Amino acid sequence: MKQNKVIWRSPSNIAIVKYWGKKGFQQGINPSLSFTLSNSFTETEIRYQAKKSTQHIVAKYYFEGEYNAEFEKRILTYFENIQTRLELFDHYELEIYSRNTFPHSAGIASSASAMSSLALGLLSIEKTIRVIPENNFFQIASELSRLGSGSAARSVYGGFTLWGKLAGVQKSSDDFAISIYKKLHPVFKNLQDSILIVRSGKKPVSSTAGHKLMDNHPDKAERIHQATKNCKALTGILKEGYFPRFAEICEEEALSLHKLMKTSNPSFVLMQPETLTIIQKIRKYREESGAKICFTLDAGPNIHLIYPEENKAEIRKFIQNELLVYCENKKWIDDKIGSGPKQMN
Ligand code: PMV
Repeated sequence: MKQNKVIWRSPSNIAIVKYWGKKGFQQGINPSLSFTLSNSFTETEIRYQAKKSTQHIVAKYYFEGEYNAEFEKRILTYFENIQTRLELFDHYELEIYSRNTFPHSAGIASSASAMSSLALGLLSIEKTIRVIPENNFFQIASELSRLGSGSAARSVYGGFTLWGKLAGVQKSSDDFAISIYKKLHPVFKNLQDSILIVRSGKKPVSSTAGHKLMDNHPDKAERIHQATKNCKALTGILKEGYFPRFAEICEEEALSLHKLMKTSNPSFVLMQPETLTIIQKIRKYREESGAKICFTLDAGPNIHLIYPEENKAEIRKFIQNELLVYCENKKWIDDKIGSGPKQMN
């Protein structure tokens, strides 16, 4: 029987305004804003052929070349959640082969790249059955990605993206992300993200459990207000190019995310002593050198060092000379803003 395939490469992203807490089915309680990375991506190949089984969803999942029962279970749950949106499950059985270019559990949101590359592949297959308007392709892909992992909604475009309804921003939606890249100031066009690995290894709290902590968090209303305000401010700052204000918001968001985790019930402290040391060093370096540099954190101890390309040479020296000593085996990942997903076949 003839087997066809689609291959999509989709990058991870780093949130400047963090998505933390869910409402409804897989919507964020607040708008979030991120930039898409370049080197940290997942490549997903989906092989599909006419279905022989009477079962509705037939799929096998291989990760890094090996059959992976744990991931397959998660993917099947995802497929159950989206089965009414796609006709392909009526027609095809699937074999999915996925691989990452970055280490697992290294502080890079692997669910964002994994789920977006999968959703893009599914939608390409869906196109063999019914018409998907080209100008809606990425919006639908973003919505499908979101249903797998919220942050994945933001990975289907290059540059900066916004997910969540935001007053005054046309087409913004809680259902899918939109690109806000077009009017970007040059200082943000080649933004670097050097990911300093303080600790690899599994996170003590999954993002699913983490989001749940916001359901009854005493600071929930205040957090929604803060994130909305920060997204709004950033849409202006990204056009105007005022880096110091960008840096303030970026760090405020990182520290707020960790504050929310520390003050939830149960409580989680996800920073390590080295995380704080590096933060202090970055602030001191910025003060002394005047360099455009700031940090953000995901739900873990690793630091994302964000800076424009113009400061690259001196900041690379700073990383080598002063920061790598605090990293696990001096490990760091060299990444930067990217142009978004690519179909590879
Ligand atoms: O997409 P999820 O459910 O893995 O959530 C991601 C949450 C953060 O990475 C902490 C923040 C974000 O907006 O990416």
